Amino acid sequence: MKRWMGKMGSMVALALSITLLGACSNGGDAPKETDSAGNPGGSSAKSSIVLGFSQVGAESGWRTANTKSIQESAKEAGFTLKFSDAQQKQENQIKALRSFIQQKVDVISFSPVVESGWDTVLKEAKDAGIPVVLTDRAVDSKDSSLYVTFLGSDFVEEGRKAGQWLVDQYKDATEEVNIVELQGTTGSAPANDRMAGFAEVIAGNPNLKVIASQTGDFTRAKGKEVMQAFLKAHKKIDVLYAHNDDMALGAIQAIEAAGLKPGVDIKIISVDAVKDGMQAASEGKINFIVECNPLLGPQLMDIVQSVVDDKAVEARIVVDETTFTSEQAKQALPERQY
Ligand code: AHR
Repeated sequence: MKRWMGKMGSMVALALSITLLGACSNGGDAPKETDSAGNPGGSSAKSSIVLGFSQVGAESGWRTANTKSIQESAKEAGFTLKFSDAQQKQENQIKALRSFIQQKVDVISFSPVVESGWDTVLKEAKDAGIPVVLTDRAVDSKDSSLYVTFLGSDFVEEGRKAGQWLVDQYKDATEEVNIVELQGTTGSAPANDRMAGFAEVIAGNPNLKVIASQTGDFTRAKGKEVMQAFLKAHKKIDVLYAHNDDMALGAIQAIEAAGLKPGVDIKIISVDAVKDGMQAASEGKINFIVECNPLLGPQLMDIVQSVVDDKAVEARIVVDETTFTSEQAKQALPERQY
């Protein structure tokens, strides 16, 4: 980790700033930290590589599968995992990262809840000589020296795949096709990028119109609530584009409660391909799912090991993903792991 060791002067400054920050971060709604075995706190013995991981929360089926993959892979690799759940709050993630710096973990990894606002804490990690690996979601920092690599999906491409399916379905349409969009968490990379990729592809087809677009925060409850409001406000909705399966599943409940048939009266496109989403697709309630793979744990542990061994790591590692029509979902469902 030689290349990550900061200069002595900056480390002293960091130690001072951490003491001050630590002093004012004790109250309130602190992130929950657990060790590899899921116990509160975590052990102080430093016998193996210590990885501090700050997770977004538990907002979706995707997130649950991602957390499981990281915890199991850390255990398998023999690493000591300090796991912190930010409960969808950036302030909690920043507190967790500062706590990892204070504990002098070997590597920090996190999935940033939103894209902006990370430079200060990332500089603190850099000055402390602790390498940072981004997983799942990116940050919009201009200074790429603040992290070693970003392992995760290409969310813009996912949005493009969703848009392309729609363009193909409606290539002969002569009337306007009204689309409603359920966005992910405001300011998050997947919400920004899935919206952008989709908009880019449908832009060439003037019949495809996004008539409403609102956040459902990647949760089932919010997806249902926002879809209810869309149904009240708009008489003719032809297509729902949901940025994840959980919001699509919530929206399906709202559509059925309104006496309409999901997948038939309103075509549905979503992202993730978790088991519940694939089940709905196999029943024809979701027409098309763009896969987003949550099983990042094994690759993350390989990266952590390479970083500790001071081996070169690619600056961007993109995850391989596919798409599913209803028919393909039916076939893939029995083998689906998550
Ligand atoms: O960052 C990945 C996204 O976050 C998943 O698509 C969504 O389900 C999750 O909450």
